[in-house]
Amino acid sequence: MAVEVAGLNPSDTKIRARGGPGAPGGKEPPYVAGREAAGTIIDCGPGVNGLRPGDPVFAFFGWFARPGGHAEQLVVPASMVTRRPAAVPVAESAAVPLAGLTALQALRVLDVPPGERLLVTAGAGGVGHFAVQLGALRGLEVVATAGPDNHQFVRGLGASEVIDYHAPDATGRVAGISYLLDAVGGDNIAAYQGVLAEAARVVAVAGLPSVIRADVAATAIRCRPSGEELAELADLLADGVLSATVQEVFPLARAAEAHVLLEGGHVRGKLVIQIGAR
Ligand SMILES: NC(=O)c1ccc[n+]([C@@H]2O[C@H](COP(=O)([O-])OP(=O)(O)OC[C@H]3O[C@@H](n4cnc5c(N)ncnc54)[C@H](OP(=O)(O)O)[C@@H]3O)[C@@H](O)[C@H]2O)c1
Repeated sequence: MAVEVAGLNPSDTKIRARGGPGAPGGKEPPYVAGREAAGTIIDCGPGVNGLRPGDPVFAFFGWFARPGGHAEQLVVPASMVTRRPAAVPVAESAAVPLAGLTALQALRVLDVPPGERLLVTAGAGGVGHFAVQLGALRGLEVVATAGPDNHQFVRGLGASEVIDYHAPDATGRVAGISYLLDAVGGDNIAAYQGVLAEAARVVAVAGLPSVIRADVAATAIRCRPSGEELAELADLLADGVLSATVQEVFPLARAAEAHVLLEGGHVRGKLVIQIGAR
C-alpha cells in the first residue's frame, strides 16, 4: 500500500526510547516506526479477494512488522487490511486502527451488560476516546477520567460523567463500580482496586499492578491485528456514530516533535504523521 497518513502511538515512542536493539521483535536500526497506516492499495498479491489497486484502505499490522507505517510504501497481509470510509478524512482514518481495535477488543473482553456502569481511565487519549464512544454505543453508562481541560471533550464522546483524576476523591466517585477499562497503567489500577465492586472485572491495556485483589478478574490485553474487526469500526465511522479526534497532523520531517508531544502524556485523541500525497 502507498501510505498517506500514519498514526503515532505510545508504542512507537517507547520502542524509539529503548533505542531499537533489544526491543521486542529484534528491531535493530535502521528501524521504521509506526504500527498503523492509511493510504491506497498499489497492488495485491495472488489470492487476495475483495481488495483492488486504488482502494482506499487502513490497517493495524501488528507489533513486529518491518518496516513500520512511517514509510511511503508497505507490504501488509490482506487479512489486516480494510477499506476505509471514503467520507472520512484520511488523517482521521489513520488514527483509528491501533487505538480503535484496542478499545474494541478490550470491551469484548470485559463483556459489560447493557446499562451497566463502565469506568474508562484516560478517556481523552487515543484508546480512551474510542473506548468511551464504543461503550456508549453499546448502551453502557460510561464514566471516564480526564484532566479538567478535557471534560467537555469526553462528555461530547458520550460519557455520562467525567472525573478529574487529580482530585483527591477521584477513586471514591466510582466506589462500587464493576467494570474498569484502564488505559493508564498498573499503578492506576492499583489506586482504583480498593473501590471496585466484589468480583469486578478489569481489562488493562497498559499493564496490570503487581498485586491485584483476589476476587477481581483482571486481564491484560495486547491488540491483535484484525481486518474484520477494523471493518466493524469502518462501518461505525461511515455511519458517523464513531469519530477519531486528531489533535495534530505532523509532516514526516517533524516526526520527532510529534514523539516528544506524545511522550508528554496529554494528547487529546491522536497524533498522526503525513507521509505521502495530500
Ligand atoms: N495493549 C495494547 O495493545 C495497547 C494498545 C494501545 C495502547 N496501549 C498502551 O495504552 C496506554 C494508553 O495509550 P493511548 O494511545 O491511549 O495513550 P495517549 O493517547 O498518549 O494517552 C494520553 C491521554 O492520557 C490522559 N492521561 C494521562 N495521565 C492520566 C491519568 N493519570 N489518568 C487519566 N488520564 C490520564 C491524558 O489526558 P489529560 O490530558 O486530560 O491528562 C491524555 O488525553 C499506553 O501506555 C500505550 O502504550 C496498549
